[in-house]
Amino acid sequence: MTSLSPPKDKIWWNEPIEKAELIWITIVFLWGLVMSFMMPFWHVVGSQNISTETYKTTPEKFMQQTQAFVDEYTVRMDDGPRQYPVVKPPPGGDVYLVARLWDYWPVVELKKGESYRFHLSSLDWQHGFSLQPANINIQIVPKYEHVVTFTPDQSGDYSVLCNEYCGIGHHMMIGKIIVVE
Ligand code: CUA
Repeated sequence: MTSLSPPKDKIWWNEPIEKAELIWITIVFLWGLVMSFMMPFWHVVGSQNISTETYKTTPEKFMQQTQAFVDEYTVRMDDGPRQYPVVKPPPGGDVYLVARLWDYWPVVELKKGESYRFHLSSLDWQHGFSLQPANINIQIVPKYEHVVTFTPDQSGDYSVLCNEYCGIGHHMMIGKIIVVE
């Protein structure tokens, strides 16, 4: 019998479950329990799924706040292909980063070992904020402002990757954070 032909016995749901099927159902159920446990486990033990504060906002309001942040703290233009402003907030200060189709704006320069409050929101669709090599992972949802504290512990260029599929330019959606000594 294939799934294309009707079952011989019309009341197939009264048949006893095959042993192999029962084993699979048991394995899948137990694995589901393991995976459910791993979510809070990695939150507590790892630093990947960190806690966020989340506030309501609008794309217009968040863009205004980010523009004000850029106007106040821009120190130069980035030498990358997009020529974005490089914004250097005071140590311990706030950072505003806009996610949009298909980039992160602006480029931010931070000081190693200092803590910053990152404010993140999307101007359009849902994006992912994956900060490497810090290995922080957050979902960025439009109309919500997510706030996380980040303390870079190594210098160099960090990449912000979008890890939520957001259309044809998704694979090019990469932002940059520079961390200096
Ligand atoms: Cu933004 Cu994928």
